[in-house]
Amino acid sequence: MRRTFVAGNWKMHGTLAANEALLTAILAGIADTKTQVALCVPYPYLSQAQSRLAGTAVAWGAQNLSQHAKGAYTGEVSAAMLNDFGCRYVIVGHSERRALYGESDDLVAEKYAAAQAAGLTPILCLGETLNEREACLTEQVVGRQLAAVLARCGAASLAKAVIAYEPVWAIGSGLTATPDQAQAVHAFIRGQVRAMDAAVAEGLIIQYGGSVKAASAAELFAQPDIDGGLVGGASLDADEFLAICKAG
Ligand code: 13P
Repeated sequence: MRRTFVAGNWKMHGTLAANEALLTAILAGIADTKTQVALCVPYPYLSQAQSRLAGTAVAWGAQNLSQHAKGAYTGEVSAAMLNDFGCRYVIVGHSERRALYGESDDLVAEKYAAAQAAGLTPILCLGETLNEREACLTEQVVGRQLAAVLARCGAASLAKAVIAYEPVWAIGSGLTATPDQAQAVHAFIRGQVRAMDAAVAEGLIIQYGGSVKAASAAELFAQPDIDGGLVGGASLDADEFLAICKAG
């Protein structure tokens, strides 16, 4: 039985003061959930996350990292730097990074490898656009994004990773994929991994992301191949986020 894992992705939101209130409220309500929980915060707030979350049930991580270990890469942040702030997780290949910052499948695979080399657990995001879905290309696109990582790191690497299926059309749009739509893609992803490594496929956590709300979480998480959620907007509201965690 896979454990449910809910991660919040704050994206580029927060202030020290607002984070303090949000973290306090989340910590106050998290005790009675069995769900594994993590928060992926903006880089400048990693120190705050570390000092507030160390020793609690909530892990923390970042939303991106450099594929390089160090060097003349102005503005970049390495996996080792994330380790310095106690991160357990780092999101790689978020659709916003792919679309807005031109991250290719190969670059995402490099970042995934860099995260694992430093002992971080990558949360690998996969997902199709609305055009791609309407052209019946969902499996082709998600399969291609996954294959780039499998080619570089192998299926066994997924024993130390999390996958998040995030259909681009559902992100921040209020248009959640139906449980059936999401389940179908999750089953496809697990099937692709199973073809290479059955044991890894069975243990693999595959989160769903895209307008997850408290009202939709329980039905999504009840699907056989949906093992939790990667939550954007709703992770900025403590009550909503806690209700999602408790739906697991
Ligand atoms: P929303 O939950 O705001 O749709 O964002 C999903 C997401 O992109 C999480 O990484």
